[in-house]
Amino acid sequence: MDSDLYRPPAPKPLSPTLSLLRTLMRGERDLLGLLPEEAYRIRVAPMGVSRRKILLVNEPSVVRRLLTEAAGDYPKNDLMIGALRPLVGEGMFISQGETWKRQRRMLEPAFTHMRINRAFAAMEAAVADYETHLDGVAARGEVFSLEAGMSHVTADIIGRTIFSRTLESEDARGIFDDFARYQNAVANVELRRLLWGKPFADIPQPAEVTEACGRIRDHIGRLIDARIAGQADRDGSGSSGQDGDLAAEVIAAVDPETGTKFDREELVDQIGTFFLAGHETTASVLTWCFFILSNQPEAVRRMRREIEAVTGGGPVRFEHTKRLAFTRNVFRETLRLYPPLTFIPRVAIREVEIEGHRLPRGAMVMISPWIIHRHMDFWRDPDRFDPDRFDPDRFEAGEGEPGAYLPFGLGPRVCIGAAFATLESALILARLIRRFDFAMAEPDKVRPVARLTTRPASEVLATVSLAGPVRQEAGQAAPVGVV
Ligand code: HEM
Repeated sequence: MDSDLYRPPAPKPLSPTLSLLRTLMRGERDLLGLLPEEAYRIRVAPMGVSRRKILLVNEPSVVRRLLTEAAGDYPKNDLMIGALRPLVGEGMFISQGETWKRQRRMLEPAFTHMRINRAFAAMEAAVADYETHLDGVAARGEVFSLEAGMSHVTADIIGRTIFSRTLESEDARGIFDDFARYQNAVANVELRRLLWGKPFADIPQPAEVTEACGRIRDHIGRLIDARIAGQADRDGSGSSGQDGDLAAEVIAAVDPETGTKFDREELVDQIGTFFLAGHETTASVLTWCFFILSNQPEAVRRMRREIEAVTGGGPVRFEHTKRLAFTRNVFRETLRLYPPLTFIPRVAIREVEIEGHRLPRGAMVMISPWIIHRHMDFWRDPDRFDPDRFDPDRFEAGEGEPGAYLPFGLGPRVCIGAAFATLESALILARLIRRFDFAMAEPDKVRPVARLTTRPASEVLATVSLAGPVRQEAGQAAPVGVV
């Protein structure tokens, strides 16, 4: 289908009454499906009826203020913190105040351009292994879960980046499997609590969640202990050299202001945070990328032409990834349509007033990349897939409202891994699109829901086959070792 016409799946917005009725009568669990049409039109307005006051804020200038200069009055939402704490303790994603400031200044150096450049080798190795796996899937004509595949490759990347371990190693595998259990169980509590929960109340988690988190933390603790004792990676479990990996950086990090290092508990918190924040987010947007591209042959042809032109037909190198302008626009546009963090919720710690709305302490301030990215006033034909809207010429000419694009958040709590995620995604997209044609088994069944990330409601079943056209156009042989 031509991209001019393509609007990938999104829930049909409801009238406010129907939205409320569904919440009350059907115990609906997916917040995306409950958003009324008005949500995509209004600038700042209270949301529906709930025990807790919720203010939806779409206006970009107000969003910017709340997330930057006024950030101190609007810390991260207590419900989100309650769901994540069993896993990441006081890790940087949810910590507040001085604790967070210290963590951020200690961890920021690990995410500089130079360090990310070093992580590229781990990314390349993980993608190469995944390509080999997909070669087999293609040869056997297997149907596979696209989301599980993307989770696998991004978890493999983060495991290699943190601990220089592949997903084949026992602890890395254990973390991956328990994380999947955690994610499925924790999502269920959120919507009910969001609408009817008491502010700042303790949130009990199901045993499944706390047990999975306990096991993940045990795995991470063991890997850290082994590393500190200098024994890691001597067991033939797929080590690729641990000098300068993320675990080494976090263990060695010193706070420039106090001269202190992280203690063991803090190390488990931070490494758990990187695992949590660093793989499912990227996996979710890549799932949507490949889903959309399976429906967009012209976009795929353009990507392949670009990849061949930039790489000269050779491997995709670090320096190439920045020059893949169209491929990066496909990634940006997919992040717009399916931002992995559907909501960036905040809570008022005192009585406040926002654009004339008085809010009591404990009120929720709902900032939603999903809604802002599809807002009728901020984007032309917002539901349409149109990667070229991010061309600098079009974008600067007013294609998108300034400040209306925030997949990585804004202000002091902006995503620390944005450059990492962009790099790995460009590499994965370029390598897999160059080599494979993706087809979806049941495209009409795919619909997004808001869980821990914006993900498909059920498994997206896909097949792959080896792509021929670009290599033939470029007059090169098909890759060896495949059917
Ligand atoms: C496409 C992929 C990703 C997306 C869309 C994304 C999105 C976000 C967003 C929206 C926030 C801000 C949340 C808030 O303000 O409440 C955030 C924070 C964070 N992200 Fe990411 N993220 C991605 C990948 C990564 C990766 C790869 C890592 C690490 C390797 C990472 C680590 C973090 C951390 C540690 C924070 C907390 C920062 C702080 O509070 O100081 N993220 N991310």
